[in-house]
Amino acid sequence: MTVSVKSIRNAAHFLQQEKLVAFPTETVYGLGGNALSDSAVASIYAAKGRPSFNPLIVHIRSPEEAWQYGAYSEAANALAHAFWPGPLTLVLPRRDHCTLSLLVSAGLDTVALRVPAHPLAQALLHEAGLPVAAPSANRSGRVSPTDASHVHEELGNTVAAILDGGPCLVGIESTVVDLTSDHPVILRPGSITPAQIAKVLDHDIQTSTGTKILAPGMLKSHYAPSLPVRLNATQVNPSEALLAFGKPIHGAAETCNLSPSGDLHEAAANLFRMLRQLDKAASTKELTGIAVMPIPTGEGEHALGLAINDRLERAAAPRPQTS
Ligand code: TXA
Ligand code: MG
Repeated sequence: MTVSVKSIRNAAHFLQQEKLVAFPTETVYGLGGNALSDSAVASIYAAKGRPSFNPLIVHIRSPEEAWQYGAYSEAANALAHAFWPGPLTLVLPRRDHCTLSLLVSAGLDTVALRVPAHPLAQALLHEAGLPVAAPSANRSGRVSPTDASHVHEELGNTVAAILDGGPCLVGIESTVVDLTSDHPVILRPGSITPAQIAKVLDHDIQTSTGTKILAPGMLKSHYAPSLPVRLNATQVNPSEALLAFGKPIHGAAETCNLSPSGDLHEAAANLFRMLRQLDKAASTKELTGIAVMPIPTGEGEHALGLAINDRLERAAAPRPQTS
């Protein structure tokens, strides 16, 4: 997918004019707005229909830029240099004279920062010369978009431009690490694993997944398709769609296979697109739900399974009334 220099320039102008632009990152597509502008950030919340207590990640160009907004620490610096540009978000204490809109922090005295690796994201940030607040470019409570067409479907009317960079390589959102207390905590698992982070920090790191709302935005039901989701399925009934992993079980009305060869990276990259695909199939066939085969988790090569299962558990969680 090639995007012209002119399109990038236009998109950067839109950001400077406080309009919203959707752009690809290596993880998922982001819905970007000028992070210095309350009005632009408010439009992001409005476009997503996002609960206002859910703070946003600010995308920046370099670690040096991070220390203008968030407090420098050795741990933050080590992680920034090890993993940026890349799929890692650092939650840091907000600096006293931080010029970012208070809305990006949603009332907290912390700020989430990330330097994305995708060349289009980088080109846009450089051209705009602004920090860009960008949650995933889906409506609140829906699965994250990993392709420009997903953004068109959900937010096409509310963005000034969508930069189309083709499918996202990683496919699940960045690992979020909270460095605001003495003990770093992983708030959201992602493709950068706890072991990789612990190695850089040179001590153990806690992971907080599951039920507690630790990142205020970690609503339990979050990555939800509209069909109910059933996890760890070992058999399937004929009215269900199947999200398979490895050798598929038979008998489903519709099947998508995250990775026939059982590769977790491939599964992560396919996850949100396939959830959407199965959800769409529900409009032509009468489907009662999505059954998901077990996804392995563990250390080393299986660590990405933790992030995939975290997203699937959210997709399967009881839905709030409004979303
Ligand atoms: O990969 C990603 O991170 C994508 C791309 C576009 O960069 N962005 C993304 O943003 O997933 P969003 O807004 O959908 O998720 C941001 C996560 C939420 O769980 C939110 O609660 C957490 O980061 N977060 C943001 N600011 C925070 C803060 N100050 N303290 C704690 N958690 C924060
Ligand atoms: Mg999101």
